[in-house]
Amino acid sequence: MSEERIERLLARLPLEDRVRLLTGETAWKLYALPEIGLRQMTVSDGPIGVRGVTEQRLSSAQLPAPSAMAATWDAELIADLGRIMAAEAVAKAADVVLAPVVNLQRTPVAGRHFECFSEDPLLSGRMATAFVEAVQAEGVGVCVKHFVGNDSETERTSYVARIAPRALREVYLAPFEQVVRDGKPWMVMAAYNAVDDGVESSPATEHDRLLAGVLKGEWGFDGVVVSDWLATKSTVESARTGLDLVMPGPGGPWREHLLAAVRGGEVPEKAIDEKVRRLLRLAERVGALDGTPPAAPRNSGDDPATVATLRSAAARATVVLRNETSLLPLRPDIQRIALIGANALDPFVQGGGSAHVVPPHVASPLAEIARAFPDAEVTAHRGGTTRRHLPLLDGGAFDGGAFEIEVLDAAGSVVQRRTESAPWSGRVTELPDAADTVRVRTTLRPTAPGDHLVEVAPVGRHHVSVDGRTLSESERIAGPEVVLDSSANHPEGVTTAVEITEPRDVEVIAEVQAVTPGSFVRFAHVEVRHQEPGPSVEDEIAEAVAAARRADVAVVVVGTNDETESEGWDRPHLDLPGRQNDLVRRVAEVNDRTVVVVNAGAPVLLPWLDEVPAALWWWLPGQEAGGSLADVLTGAVEPTGRLPWTLPARAADVPVPHAIPVDGVVDYAEGLDVGHRGWDRLGRVPAREFGFGLGYSTWQYGDAVQTGPRQVTVPVVNTGARRAREVVQAYLTAPGQDRPVRWLAGFAAVEVDPGAAAAVAVDVPQRAFEMWDESAGIWRIPAGEYILQVGRSSRDLRSSVRITVETAS
Ligand code: BGC
Repeated sequence: MSEERIERLLARLPLEDRVRLLTGETAWKLYALPEIGLRQMTVSDGPIGVRGVTEQRLSSAQLPAPSAMAATWDAELIADLGRIMAAEAVAKAADVVLAPVVNLQRTPVAGRHFECFSEDPLLSGRMATAFVEAVQAEGVGVCVKHFVGNDSETERTSYVARIAPRALREVYLAPFEQVVRDGKPWMVMAAYNAVDDGVESSPATEHDRLLAGVLKGEWGFDGVVVSDWLATKSTVESARTGLDLVMPGPGGPWREHLLAAVRGGEVPEKAIDEKVRRLLRLAERVGALDGTPPAAPRNSGDDPATVATLRSAAARATVVLRNETSLLPLRPDIQRIALIGANALDPFVQGGGSAHVVPPHVASPLAEIARAFPDAEVTAHRGGTTRRHLPLLDGGAFDGGAFEIEVLDAAGSVVQRRTESAPWSGRVTELPDAADTVRVRTTLRPTAPGDHLVEVAPVGRHHVSVDGRTLSESERIAGPEVVLDSSANHPEGVTTAVEITEPRDVEVIAEVQAVTPGSFVRFAHVEVRHQEPGPSVEDEIAEAVAAARRADVAVVVVGTNDETESEGWDRPHLDLPGRQNDLVRRVAEVNDRTVVVVNAGAPVLLPWLDEVPAALWWWLPGQEAGGSLADVLTGAVEPTGRLPWTLPARAADVPVPHAIPVDGVVDYAEGLDVGHRGWDRLGRVPAREFGFGLGYSTWQYGDAVQTGPRQVTVPVVNTGARRAREVVQAYLTAPGQDRPVRWLAGFAAVEVDPGAAAAVAVDVPQRAFEMWDESAGIWRIPAGEYILQVGRSSRDLRSSVRITVETAS
């Protein structure tokens, strides 16, 4: 019925209209065609919430980062979060959420690591499928991204991911395949990078074998393939293959160029029709042909049910890395808690880049821990800054002043004036067409005697003066690419010390380039940062250590920050920023009840991990940060997390330590051995292995038995003192075969009371046995013996069953 309707509508559309539909009207909106009852459709980023598309950023529920979601290994919980996403999309009048990300955490330094679920294809595919089903059941579309090989950020819009066909099938395409076949997403995003599978090397937006052949052909994907933003570089090549929609708009390589190409016979009209058919199918699915306009976008994310789910999800996702003296959960009668660390005061709740959302609030660890321990004295100590840059100028030295902003045209005439009050992000948007340069002027009124540090950080061509002296100047023009490079969010600045003996005015004048070559990229950016004279990092560490000495329990929150984890760059190393390792060691020396909480999305090295009594991996926990940590510390919620990636002990051991392209190529030379498989292949010992997580109980495993052709059942007993959840993991090995040493084949969880036993059945999908036969281009199960090992993690395997496959298939 609906396909017939789509054909009827399609038949009514002249070629101009059909082609017009295939490029966005704006950065986030598609064209409407009222004459056929098609309203404008809106897409909006994920995967941490729904960002919304208005300039006045509205609040949105801010979820724990996807790796935290995957750490739950809990499809039902992921579905709860998916339903929150769908509600957020409705609140932002978005028809499609640009999530989930099912690229793999191939290297721990990858900038968007936190946006991905896991280093493992099976776990990623499972989590993504649960998410997609839950979102779309509410009538909101998802866009699974970034198809494919988009696993790092260095040269991200141009690198060629060279992936051999078998690794491509068994590893990088695998989560896409599972989610497309089982979750049936309505949109897939083609990545920025190119893919070389040994047969075809072309940009992901025009990869015929992958888009037309695999995704739409083999897997039967019937939705829309959209390009990543600004990713489409060609007219004919991209239009002839599987790409359906170019974003953002207006402009871009299709529009009138595509119309001409169709008229000139370079792109067949039936290719256009197929794309429009898919767009109309999407419109029908999201209700854009129903005649009902979406409601106005609104603030959201703080209704009690959402808050409760987000709090519990972040607590459950937390991974217990160590709990030597059963320090955790903390006893309710402790008297003095010293809460320490820059991330304790200002938790890093989400990574940077397109996933960024404005949360309705961020629950403070200090307030929530104080609430959870009402009889204790809880004090907070930063223990030194961990940031490279100074803080943004705020009220203190500013004395109620403002930023005077003048927009100048190329002739130097002022075409617009505005003011901003502190703290101000430094970004000037909604520029008039004539904008060429933006002049920002502000006056500091520092009063405290001593050296005040002032840092001014512009993007692009600029001239900056502080206190009458030129601080920095450059003629280097920033192009539209800066929007794709998140370092523009923390531009490098130049710092100067201004000596204050008595209060006086210090003038800052910055003239910066307006970056305006297109509707999607239209801004000027200059950050003014300032730091009062104050205690040094060493002084702050000493103060924190003194507080720890006096306390019954020291809770040290270490972690990364928005200068560290973001879209747009890969990390140069795996170290914690600043002197956090020092801080932990010195606190642990004076307090033998020290709990270290790691607030990071991607692995960081924890050289003291086995020297402290307790350690938790707390992820990028989202808006309910404080409450989730309090619940874990009190034990109100069990931290049930199991690592969805491997935590290295030493940087030198990491199997894929970086993804720096060589001559533009990222060679996926490790083949099938991604993540934990690589650690197993190389026989290296990580700090904590894939699948690791202690929880708050202990478990006894009985002998596994085979209970179906592809099912294993294992008896487990909760031998601890509290109700708890166990994730039983099953790994396959195939001695003598050309396979990874072992690979995750299935998992199942159980939650039982203390002393209770349960039989946990783990189903292993057929695909786990199959391997891709490169020469025949088909999946096969080789005959032979398979060993299915079950246990608590990839390296804590408790028993196994042998499964013999007599004849190959
Ligand atoms: C990112 C995508 C995102 C898009 C729109 C791109 O730079 O790679 O993940 O959906 O921008 O913001």
